Amino acid sequence: MTHSIELPDDTVTLAAGSAMPLLGFGTWQIKGDEAVRAASAALEAGYRHLDTATVYGNEGEVGRALAESGVPRDEVFLTTKCPPSQAGNELDTLKASLDLLQTDHVDLWLIHWPGDGSSNNDIWRAFGQARESGLAREIGVSNFDSALLDEVTAATGYTPAVNQIEWSPLLYDAATVADHRDRGIVLEGYSALRGGTLDHPTIVEIAEREGRTAAQVIIRWHLQHDFVVIPKSVNPERIRSNADVGGFALSDDDMAALDTLGKG
Ligand SMILES: NC(=O)c1ccc[n+]([C@@H]2O[C@H](COP(=O)([O-])OP(=O)(O)OC[C@H]3O[C@@H](n4cnc5c(N)ncnc54)[C@H](OP(=O)(O)O)[C@@H]3O)[C@@H](O)[C@H]2O)c1
Repeated sequence: MTHSIELPDDTVTLAAGSAMPLLGFGTWQIKGDEAVRAASAALEAGYRHLDTATVYGNEGEVGRALAESGVPRDEVFLTTKCPPSQAGNELDTLKASLDLLQTDHVDLWLIHWPGDGSSNNDIWRAFGQARESGLAREIGVSNFDSALLDEVTAATGYTPAVNQIEWSPLLYDAATVADHRDRGIVLEGYSALRGGTLDHPTIVEIAEREGRTAAQVIIRWHLQHDFVVIPKSVNPERIRSNADVGGFALSDDDMAALDTLGKG
């Protein structure tokens, strides 16, 4: 028998009014049956936010896990992403994602990374149409810097709801946080458990003192900063323990110590 876990219930309200759970489940590099198993385990553990992408090649598996989970579609926040190579073909790409995901809309659709030159503006215009038509409830970008965020906003009148970027205590930068907050753009982090975070002595020390895992400390740090965090795992125990972060809080001192691991 598995012990019960305490999930966080923190959400952030996005530009068009959707409530996005701050904790989601990442699915990069999980394919085939393993993707069905992992996404099913995440839903079973209580995650209500799944992150996939056209280029992950697992939207069909994520969709199958969701359909078979019995969890109502409207209780799950579903993100997918469009590669910029699909410029000119954006809506067909989204419709293919929707078919695979077995749904009539995604909650968030992201430009996966910036395209060349001014192509982002055209892609972003198509994203605006997808939002108007309801195929994507919210639209955003990934791997954009603040100059690019401003460029697409000025060109189209649509502000990205979210920017998904690589992020962790080791990458914390108050200026980047301010860049997003000033623009009303939610900062969503990825690869929080990579780049040496799990072995960092400060993080390990806090984890040991609190009787938590390093991953839980990192995930909890995101939640207390109102950053979205989407840990990935194929291991059912880790899937559960990464979500078991609702029942403790990091002190102000520990939050400050973690902030100093980045640029402060
Ligand atoms: N927009 C983008 O360009 C972009 C880029 C990268 C990622 N992402 C998104 O962000 C998600 C998360 O990023 P990520 O996949 O790079 O990795 P991550 O969440 O940082 O996880 C990295 C690795 O840590 C391991 N792990 C997970 N929980 C653990 C734990 N409790 N203790 C020890 N190890 C643990 C996992 O291995 P096991 O599976 O073996 O547990 C995983 O392979 C992705 O899945 C994807 O959805 C987006």
